[in-house]
Amino acid sequence: MGDLAIRGGAQSVPAKLAKTSWPVVTEADKRAVMGVLERKVLWAMTAVDGLHCPEQDALEREFAAFLGARYALAVNGGTAGLHMAVAAAGVQAGDEVITSAYSFLATPAAILHAGAVPVFVDIDPRTWNIDAAKIEAKITPRTRAILAVDIHGLTADWDAIHAVARKHKLLVLEDACQAPGAKYKGRGAGNLGLAAGFSVNGTKNFAVGEGGFMVTNDEEVYYRANWIKQVGETLPASNRTMEFQHLLAWNYRVQEMPCALARTQLARLAEVNRTGQRNARIVDSYLQNTPGLRAPFVPQECESVYHKYRITIVPEELDTPLRGQELRDAFMAALSAEGVDVDLWGTAPLPAHPMIQSHYGQGRNVPWSLNGDPAQYVYRAEDYPETLRMFANSFCLTNDEFPIYAQSEELMHAYGKALQKVASGAGQMQASKAWQTAT
Ligand SMILES: Cc1ncc(COP(=O)(O)O)c(C=O)c1O
Repeated sequence: MGDLAIRGGAQSVPAKLAKTSWPVVTEADKRAVMGVLERKVLWAMTAVDGLHCPEQDALEREFAAFLGARYALAVNGGTAGLHMAVAAAGVQAGDEVITSAYSFLATPAAILHAGAVPVFVDIDPRTWNIDAAKIEAKITPRTRAILAVDIHGLTADWDAIHAVARKHKLLVLEDACQAPGAKYKGRGAGNLGLAAGFSVNGTKNFAVGEGGFMVTNDEEVYYRANWIKQVGETLPASNRTMEFQHLLAWNYRVQEMPCALARTQLARLAEVNRTGQRNARIVDSYLQNTPGLRAPFVPQECESVYHKYRITIVPEELDTPLRGQELRDAFMAALSAEGVDVDLWGTAPLPAHPMIQSHYGQGRNVPWSLNGDPAQYVYRAEDYPETLRMFANSFCLTNDEFPIYAQSEELMHAYGKALQKVASGAGQMQASKAWQTAT
């Protein structure tokens, strides 16, 4: 296939091929935002049964309908939506919540902000979601919930998660921040636990800038979440008032302009997801015939929305002595030189992160650490072999600025050919300390 571009060969992806930057903003989006300014209702008014204003109310109804869920509460971030889900579901200070070692930091942050302790489980090497078979070993008398993540837009192993939760009487919560529109056995993400958080941060398939949702089918959780959204002030018009006053609330209110923009973006979300699925199929077809590279695995019962398209490197099938991170970085440098957008997303298991370690590593700030076993909170790499293997041997195709769900078929064919070229020319690659600097 010729010399790799990084060794002086011709670049594989034609420079004239257009790329679409994210997010896309249309005339309909602009009109929707201007409409709010003309109406001059800019924020949600407090009423006896919640917060009300036209764009927010319509958005909540429309997003719930999109997901096939009963209730959606618009909030000012995915992290807010997750914290709301954790707290409104009934997780309390001192509880342990089991979650995946691979996610965005917001997942354990939401647990910590409810006063609870995140307990991490390694991932399934095929899906990169929490390995349900490893959950039971982490359950203690203090475990109250499992917060599983639909990572990269692929739903987790929900039947297996629910089976463990039923056996141990645990709450099941969902981080669906990357997965609006994803399905598990025909059911939409957001409906797979008692409550879920979603993000509409500007990097997401459903991109508004900043914002999010808490979604539930449970009336009690919904009412408690309303309380949490407005610093405890929004009293449901019912007799629930007193029993929820122990909940520590925050301000998760939203603004009308982003809600209006969210409605017009939501109207295009199914199409965005379809584009991602079409593009994933194109790249999949190239990778099927490419020794040394594997497309992301999607179990039969799942429909992914490909928030990320993570490619695994199989070193034994490549003509190179490079291994692990060195090979990954060399691959990324070679692909960048060919004109292919690549990205890293996350670099270490969450329990190794300084925020987690400084907060509760080695039993720090864990309310019962004097009586319990602080050793269980020490980060040990050997507890997360699959998460570490994934980081060392994989990378994401496309990046936040030009994500896979916004690109043309032509670009995806060009990327597929470039992937094949680099894999077959792996012998030409040299160790590269940082792929970013090699381009
Ligand atoms: C898996 C996951 N959880 C939580 C979040 C937090 O969402 P936000 O950034 O909107 O607070 C994000 C995205 O940023 C995410 O990808």
